[in-house]
Amino acid sequence: MPTINRQVVLARRPNGYPVPGDFRLEEAPLPAVGPGQFLLENHYVSLDAGFRNWMNEGSGDEVLPAMALDAPVMGLTLGRVAESRHPDYVVGEWLMARLCWEEYSVTDGGDFISRLPEPRDCPLSYYLGVLGDTGLSAYFGLLDIGRPAPGETVLVSAAAGAVGNVAGQLAKIHGARAVGIAGSPEKCVRLVDELGFDAAVNYREEGLQGAIAAACPDGVHVYFDSVGGPLLETVVDNLAVGARIALCGAITAYNATEPLPGPSNLFQLTARQALMQGFMTHLQEHRYPEARAALTGWLQSGELKNVEYRLHGMERVGEAFCDLFAGNNFGKTVVQLRDDGE
Ligand SMILES: NC(=O)c1ccc[n+]([C@@H]2O[C@H](COP(=O)([O-])OP(=O)(O)OC[C@H]3O[C@@H](n4cnc5c(N)ncnc54)[C@H](OP(=O)(O)O)[C@@H]3O)[C@@H](O)[C@H]2O)c1
Repeated sequence: MPTINRQVVLARRPNGYPVPGDFRLEEAPLPAVGPGQFLLENHYVSLDAGFRNWMNEGSGDEVLPAMALDAPVMGLTLGRVAESRHPDYVVGEWLMARLCWEEYSVTDGGDFISRLPEPRDCPLSYYLGVLGDTGLSAYFGLLDIGRPAPGETVLVSAAAGAVGNVAGQLAKIHGARAVGIAGSPEKCVRLVDELGFDAAVNYREEGLQGAIAAACPDGVHVYFDSVGGPLLETVVDNLAVGARIALCGAITAYNATEPLPGPSNLFQLTARQALMQGFMTHLQEHRYPEARAALTGWLQSGELKNVEYRLHGMERVGEAFCDLFAGNNFGKTVVQLRDDGE
């Protein structure tokens, strides 16, 4: 068994957008596995925008505590049990866990942990993306709140990201038109050409209001929002009567150093008899088997494509997290730590 663990620690609290210098690679002794504990050999680290919140001073809440300075950064990992003194975990099992950015984790299993199905239908990394928290967020948010009907228009923000690309593809599978919002012309082309979106709009270009109106001529029936802020205000002005807005996240707010003003036009929800509702995916855990079965079926039929932005090596985990906010990713961002043949 290894005796040294490579970890990425929070070197300082990000001020606004995270930069690689906020993180530091360190080596630490790997503790022995005690009674009631097991050793997880991490193969992938998942990078998730929402974890940015807990890097701020005093940000602890009912979900997680604030991250500590000079301690390993909290995040989702996928790994294999390499040694076990825990009655419920056996060597060789594959698990996903809310642990840390590190090569090995010694844990008592008290962290949020779920098992990968055996046998597996899909490659390992899919269980962090399209079959993991982000794909499941697209599934629950779009289908429970958005409820797209055939012929309706579904508009998706951060559409080239992990959640958004799945939300748009699910809209198509349910017979709706899918329109994506992304931050570069290249991403817009890929959304249409590779993932089958009907149209895509670049939010960084002038004339966004007109571009959304042109791409959604009957109005926006469903808005799947991961961004919030001024973009939400622009979309509210384009809603169809009876529209549904699924609030998945508010990525604009995560790096703000001052509170952001809310949309000034929420009266439009009244006028257009629209619904706006947030959701938390982890509260739907009892429905994960149903959702994974449906998503796996669409992957196998070829109606749903998995897209990934994959870097390699523990030394690149901090960079990969920064890439999320810089928009360098297309699809789910993961860092692969060791070769698993997939
Ligand atoms: N409710 C839940 O239970 C739940 C669960 C998981 C995730 N989420 C939320 O889902 C959202 C997506 O998370 P993710 O980890 O999957 O990230 P992601 O979508 O893979 O990547 C984030 C994308 O957002 C875009 N972006 C970054 N800053 C932006 C800005 N200021 N304005 C507009 N777009 C911006 C970037 O692409 P561009 O090039 O297009 O800018 C980037 O690729 C986050 O808000 C996260 O908190 C919610």
